[in-house]
Amino acid sequence: MISRPLLASGTVLTMPTETPTPFSRATDELRIVLFEGIHETAVQALSDGGFVNIQRYPKALEGDALLDAVKDAHFIGIRSRTQMTKEVFDAAKELRAVGCFCIGTNQVDLTSAREAGVPVFNAPFSNTRSVAELVIAESVFLMRDIPAKNANAHRGEWRKSASGSYEVRGKHLGIVGYGHIGSQVGVLAESMGMRVFYYDTNAKLALGNATPVRSLHGLLQVADVVTLHVPGTPETVRMIGQDEFAQMRDGAALINASRGSVIEIDALVEALESGKVRGAALDVFPTEPKSNADPFESPLKKFDNVILTPHVGGSTEEAQESIGVEVAEKIVRFQKNGSTLSAVNFPEVSLPKNNGTYRLLHIHRNQPGVLAQINQVFSGSGINISGEYLQTDDHLGYVVVDFDITDEFDRSKLEQLKAIDGTLRARILVR
Ligand code: NAI
Repeated sequence: MISRPLLASGTVLTMPTETPTPFSRATDELRIVLFEGIHETAVQALSDGGFVNIQRYPKALEGDALLDAVKDAHFIGIRSRTQMTKEVFDAAKELRAVGCFCIGTNQVDLTSAREAGVPVFNAPFSNTRSVAELVIAESVFLMRDIPAKNANAHRGEWRKSASGSYEVRGKHLGIVGYGHIGSQVGVLAESMGMRVFYYDTNAKLALGNATPVRSLHGLLQVADVVTLHVPGTPETVRMIGQDEFAQMRDGAALINASRGSVIEIDALVEALESGKVRGAALDVFPTEPKSNADPFESPLKKFDNVILTPHVGGSTEEAQESIGVEVAEKIVRFQKNGSTLSAVNFPEVSLPKNNGTYRLLHIHRNQPGVLAQINQVFSGSGINISGEYLQTDDHLGYVVVDFDITDEFDRSKLEQLKAIDGTLRARILVR
């Protein structure tokens, strides 16, 4: 719940609440710029986390206006429309992290972000419940033949009949991809009395009474409703085609709220025309309109028994609220504690509370010798290290050092650490 007044769009507050240190700027001195009307819950979470200099834009900016808006920013928050190109990263010299207040990160040049030593956060889970609820509703509608009956009624045709309408109770739900969404669909479906089966390429713990099935075809053979919840990978492209429709039970229903590339649309058209499939619900498509002003084209538009939704599976007020909190909290945690857990382009480090008085965050290219040189700066000054954490990927190294300060550690040591060859960013947090 939001407990205090929220900042109005465009508001800039500059009231200090922390004492600056000789080594790093206090959170209240840092500038965060939010584009695209990011949800109020994000602003609340950021201000709860100590940010006061929060600049908000209702829309995405581009060109010089964007470069100008980001040039002094320490943190940037965007949704899907702001294009974070190399040029933008070059312009944002002070940048520490980017928060994508959405699921996808295609709008960000993740390589340039990594080369600048900037972690990018998103909200991969905040809207999963919304997708799961929609899938349950669609299962019920498809089993009852509601899409066609609804279309008939809109045309003035009265089709009152029980024939071909079924309860979902006792029916078999086949879930392809038992991850965050798939597993929630399973739990909700069981509460409706469905028997749940799932197929996943990774071993997954079955929730409730769900039954794992070893192959995709095995799953398709037992399911009355098939629902797809796989990621977009080369293996999942067109994974449901002619062969898979042939394996399905006659009169099964198909739901896809995952990726548009997963179903071979021509094969689905055939399966609908032949009656092999009783109906389908699609929220995602191989080609989707770029904006609400563009027309939607699909060979599925002609079918009354197909529910077509404009990629809104995860689009609810609740999801927007929780995305705001999830991403804002990741930014606050990175700023105050250095944790990069769930950053999409960065070595992930989940850090405990600082054991020492000070904490060094050192981001560098993953090249030999950097760690030794960092340790040398400390050992050469007789500084007691109380904790050290290192995580690397192919390109980056992220070292976190907790230490107790001595008189010998002064600003020049931080400059020494920054001067180590390969260093991208370094800062020191104070407990
Ligand atoms: P997740 O990563 O938690 O789960 C995906 C599961 O699929 C994993 O368990 C993985 O092991 C499994 N998997 C991967 N390849 C597979 C294969 N070839 N066969 C079978 N299983 C396979 O992902 P999450 O969060 O559950 O999302 C699922 C999908 O839903 C994603 O494609 C995502 O983009 C989409 N999505 C759609 C939304 C919408 O608005 N329609 C909103 C949110 C997510």
